Amino acid sequence: MKIAIATFQGLPDGDEDAPALIAELAARGVEARTVPWDDADADWDGFDLVVARNTWDYTERLAEFLAWAGKLPRLANRAEVLAWNTDKRYLRELAEAGVPVVPTLWDPAELPEWPDYVIKPAVSAGARDTARWSAAEAVPARAHLDRLLAEGRTVMVQPYLDAIDTAGESALVFIDGEFSHAARKEPILRPGAGVSELNGGTISPREPSQAELAIARRVLQAAPDGLLYARVDLIPGPDGAPVLLELELSEPYLFLHQAPGAAGRLADAIVRRSSSG
Ligand SMILES: Nc1ncnc2c1ncn2[C@@H]1O[C@H](COP(=O)(O)OP(=O)(O)O)[C@@H](O)[C@H]1O
Ligand SMILES: [Mg+2]
Repeated sequence: MKIAIATFQGLPDGDEDAPALIAELAARGVEARTVPWDDADADWDGFDLVVARNTWDYTERLAEFLAWAGKLPRLANRAEVLAWNTDKRYLRELAEAGVPVVPTLWDPAELPEWPDYVIKPAVSAGARDTARWSAAEAVPARAHLDRLLAEGRTVMVQPYLDAIDTAGESALVFIDGEFSHAARKEPILRPGAGVSELNGGTISPREPSQAELAIARRVLQAAPDGLLYARVDLIPGPDGAPVLLELELSEPYLFLHQAPGAAGRLADAIVRRSSSG
């Protein structure tokens, strides 16, 4: 059995979880290797399964990336899921389905009244092109908003939910629909820092609360089924209860090294999928 772990040219060997995942697959008799998604020489049909993992330049080349995904015979998560999930407008659908989501203005013509807020594009990863602005920063905030709109991008404006400064962000990882482990992410957006460069934030292990687990399960009920992996990112909302910041089904860090057994659980799920055709 042969597995490709899809990554990008900027990270040809995958992220820091790749060696553990490859070793766990090898222990199960499966040959796995990392392959950049745009590698022209790759024989994609020769793999029993392609696992989308670190394809992080897709934000600049979305149409090309989705066309590649659509041509693969066996991809996890599957191409329609990637198409849905690589644009944060899915958050609007989840909110309409009753999931508590960070309050969001979509493509607003004016800056919001909030004292502290976030402007970000709907297609982004790693906080790229994302900024936190205060009411005193109307000039650079306006320029940021206008630039994103002029680039034809869908823009999201949200209140800065400052409970993240003490509680952090919770990332709950599910493998084959089962909760596996969680991680805590420190806040990324500093006041006065302007538009952010690629930044993943500092990570540590986390025990999710019952409320976080319950919201994460609701999110997954409203999401596409058959997911190999899902990461549900939650922060405390305006009233303190957890709200969805992001549902990562495309290329998330899975923080496997934060939890004993997690790489093995993902390897088992990959083997189940590859052998069931
Ligand atoms: N409304 C918000 N309130 C507080 N922090 C936010 C908010 N939106 C984004 N952030 C911060 O910016 C980071 C990146 O935003 P996110 O929505 O997760 O997009 P992505 O990870 O896809 O770039 C988050 O991990 C969080 O630290
Ligand atoms: Mg995020």
